[in-house]
Amino acid sequence: MTACTLTQKPAQRRPRRAHRGSVPIVPPYLDPLEQFVSPERVARIDHVLAHRLASLTVVCEDVFDPHNVAACARTCEALGLQDLHWVLNKNALRLSSTVAKAADQWLTFHHHDSTEAGVAALKAQGYELWVSDLQADCALADLPLGPKVAVVIGNAKFGISERMRQLADRRYIVPMHGMVQSFNLSVALALTLADLVPRRRRELAMLGQTGDLPTAALAELRAKWLEFGVDRADIVRRALAAEATRDGTP
Ligand SMILES: C[S@@+](CC[C@H](N)C(=O)[O-])C[C@H]1O[C@@H](n2cnc3c(N)ncnc32)[C@H](O)[C@@H]1O
Repeated sequence: MTACTLTQKPAQRRPRRAHRGSVPIVPPYLDPLEQFVSPERVARIDHVLAHRLASLTVVCEDVFDPHNVAACARTCEALGLQDLHWVLNKNALRLSSTVAKAADQWLTFHHHDSTEAGVAALKAQGYELWVSDLQADCALADLPLGPKVAVVIGNAKFGISERMRQLADRRYIVPMHGMVQSFNLSVALALTLADLVPRRRRELAMLGQTGDLPTAALAELRAKWLEFGVDRADIVRRALAAEATRDGTP
């Protein structure tokens, strides 16, 4: 476990001004399905994908209340995260559709059977594990943002497991100044991401980027999201592929 002594902040450089309305990083894929989707919807999909973040992710440890699950998913989607990890040690995952507002359809969920399995998977992908923990003595704002960070949110009743505490790289608290003991977990997540996401976006803007989803993931999601807007998209895709084969087009 690393103590919260690394308070050195990266040098402040003036972020490069982003071009309003432009979406610079989506390569010009040619998806035959586009002819069945309105140009406005294609543009919206490309805009959202261009702003997606892979370098920040969230792990919910034993969070199972359907309203909390949905609130976490909706917050992640709205702020531009793509991947959401669930470590479910004891409980099954259910999601309140009235709270989620279909956010789950745009996200990629990863399920892990145990805390150890979830941590191992994320560390293998290069993520630092940042555990939100009422017992931590380090404020979130004092942690320097590494290249890949996975924020861990704990169970509503018991908080973070002792095992997760042991395996984490960092522990932080979102400072509180009231009488209550804690935030609701989805609120703690929202406050955390409201701090980290703008930090990451400022760094990306300095590199002339709006998001950091790998190209392969971006292409895969684009194809899937286009399909959401087309009736029987699987059949249409097969018909278009057969037609292209007949015509000898690639
Ligand atoms: C309702 S709290 C859990 C309270 C639990 N009795 C405990 O002692 O941890 C649910 C989760 O929200 C997050 N959380 C709530 N308030 C927080 C805060 N002020 N700072 C950091 N995380 C917080 C933590 O992940 C916590 O495990």
